[in-house]
Amino acid sequence: MTERRDLAGRRLVLGLSGGIACYKSAELLRLLVKAGAEVHVVMTEGAQRFITAETMQALSGRPVATGIWDAAEPNGMPHINLTRGADAVLVAPASADFIARLAQGRAEDLLSLVCLARPLGVGEHPVPLLLAPAMNREMWTHPATQRNLAQAAADGATLLGVAHGDQACGEVGDGRMLEAEAILEELTTALSPKPLAGRKMLITAGPTFEAIDPVRGITNLSSGKMGFAIARAAREAGAEVTLVAGPVHLDTPRGVRRINVRSAAQMHDAVLPQAPAHDLFVATAAVADWRPASLSAQKIKKDGKKVAPTFELSENPDILAAVAALPDRPYCVGFAAESEKLEQHAREKLLRKKLPLIVGNLGPATFGQDDNALLLVDAQSTRPLPADGRPADKLTLARALIEEVARRLDGWTRSAAA
Ligand code: CTP
Repeated sequence: MTERRDLAGRRLVLGLSGGIACYKSAELLRLLVKAGAEVHVVMTEGAQRFITAETMQALSGRPVATGIWDAAEPNGMPHINLTRGADAVLVAPASADFIARLAQGRAEDLLSLVCLARPLGVGEHPVPLLLAPAMNREMWTHPATQRNLAQAAADGATLLGVAHGDQACGEVGDGRMLEAEAILEELTTALSPKPLAGRKMLITAGPTFEAIDPVRGITNLSSGKMGFAIARAAREAGAEVTLVAGPVHLDTPRGVRRINVRSAAQMHDAVLPQAPAHDLFVATAAVADWRPASLSAQKIKKDGKKVAPTFELSENPDILAAVAALPDRPYCVGFAAESEKLEQHAREKLLRKKLPLIVGNLGPATFGQDDNALLLVDAQSTRPLPADGRPADKLTLARALIEEVARRLDGWTRSAAA
């Protein structure tokens, strides 16, 4: 699979304040560097009690800044040198004490000073501040902490988390730092352009499962990966995303509302009522075309019979065609998963379902894989995505598709014919 470098060319400051979650920051740093970022680490004294500066230096490949009075800085101003030209300051973990210092605008340690000195955007390119808090659940819910968090957010910080679960102290509750992967996803989103800001997108993904009896059913090989990647890309692009998912084993992209369904009828019932409230509908689900006409209440038994059972099938509703036929329909994007004659079949579906855009891909080649290649088919043209037609990973393709769809959506109004 092609390796993605989502943070290539980005310069980040990663700050660590004191807390047991510092051990997760080593993994976070490794992911940031792997994603292509240049990372400058700043540690408070408290952080150095939990993890050494040498560990973070080895992982970042750069010296770690720990003090305001560091003589190694030629101009003696590490807080200015670190923040000018940075793309973001990320504090993970952000302790209760550190958030209190931020809320008061204090500057007696280097990390607080860095946060205070970062450009807010008046005459300079703004440097966003992201905080991944980590603390005991009682500390988290304390009114003083909540007050300080609200103040930090009002002053422009973005809060990432917190997670719920087991805590190092043995208690269970809110206050865990997000996992490194989740912080990376949030950071990537924070740094992404927002062509879908203010837009609402509804998307279907995965296969459907049509029950024959309580233990058997008809389904297909769709993994849902492409749809989940598009949901993530749309959220990165600023959309409010609702994902209606068939039975798949995939984590929900962060910030996405997920509705789980099993059958085509359930997917239809989840989608249709809310479709008009959305600007965009993307149908990536591999919806079963037929379902058993009747559901056997009990498991169908062989009982020594030599003749295999036969099943009558009923046609499932076409969800995409039904949404595209609504008077107040959203902009509809269909997918065509074919095994041959991709362009021809995709174009037939574009016309039959009355869509402005359909995306073709070769089903057997892509189902369950991490890479894919797409063909964009509209009334006027056919073109591959990416332009060179070479397979790319599904998130890269999803981002390119969302960029394309955002452009089309800007020039489209609900009343316009497809
Ligand atoms: N689709 C849908 N509801 C269905 C069938 C398909 O919403 N009952 C959507 C899919 O999510 C996809 C597009 O329609 O966006 C094309 O689906 P596909 O199954 O490939 O097309 P069909 O119309 O079923 O044609 P065929 O099975 O003959 O290829």
